[in-house]
Amino acid sequence: MRDLSAELLAWYDVHAREMPWRVGPSDRKAGVLPDPYAVWMSEIMLQQTTVAAVRDYHRKFLALWPTVGDLAAADDADVMAAWAGLGYYARARNLLKCARAVVAEHDGVFPDSYEQLLKLPGIGPYTAAAVSAIAFDRPETVVDGNVERVMARLHDIHAPLPGSKGELTTKAQALTPQSRPGDYAQAVMDLGATICTPRNPACGICPWRDPCAARLAGTAAELPKKTPK
Ligand code: ADE
Repeated sequence: MRDLSAELLAWYDVHAREMPWRVGPSDRKAGVLPDPYAVWMSEIMLQQTTVAAVRDYHRKFLALWPTVGDLAAADDADVMAAWAGLGYYARARNLLKCARAVVAEHDGVFPDSYEQLLKLPGIGPYTAAAVSAIAFDRPETVVDGNVERVMARLHDIHAPLPGSKGELTTKAQALTPQSRPGDYAQAVMDLGATICTPRNPACGICPWRDPCAARLAGTAAELPKKTPK
């Protein structure tokens, strides 16, 4: 049987997007992991904002508050002012709450497990899985809009979102490898952001073009289906 996650990781080794908070595949293979604080902040900022817009804010926040302890000790007004322009201000308030909880409950050290991360303010299933996988290389499965789209297409699933979320999550879990789960989590998201895009997917250069059921059926561009609001 073909090893889909290994094929995607081989693609990621060549095509990983550079991001300031990322540790690239070659450094990760040498055992280098990113700072969980930087990863957590990037995932909160990326929730409703593009990678391009997040870059400068992320750099600014890490310059102003290099550690989670620094952020926890910051004035609320300074953090809100630094966040201005990113939008969805509840994220900034939760950012502070979470930083203070990490200091108060975990001595300023981010917990590594999905379950512990999930208990922190502002951290839901997506962020808990992303931080656990990316910062600690735990085999957790991240499911964001990119991953839902990739799974719907790979398996040609026509049941509409949000009802199909459970099925798409199960498919994503089944593919998550025990080896290099942090790179794998980022690889699926990069695939969705750069090749398996909502419109005009670049199926011809996709590392999963051969096993992709939607490509075979000619349905990739119409998936995932969504229940009308
Ligand atoms: N979107 C949100 N988080 C991401 C990540 N870690 N890699 C790629 N795309 C993302």
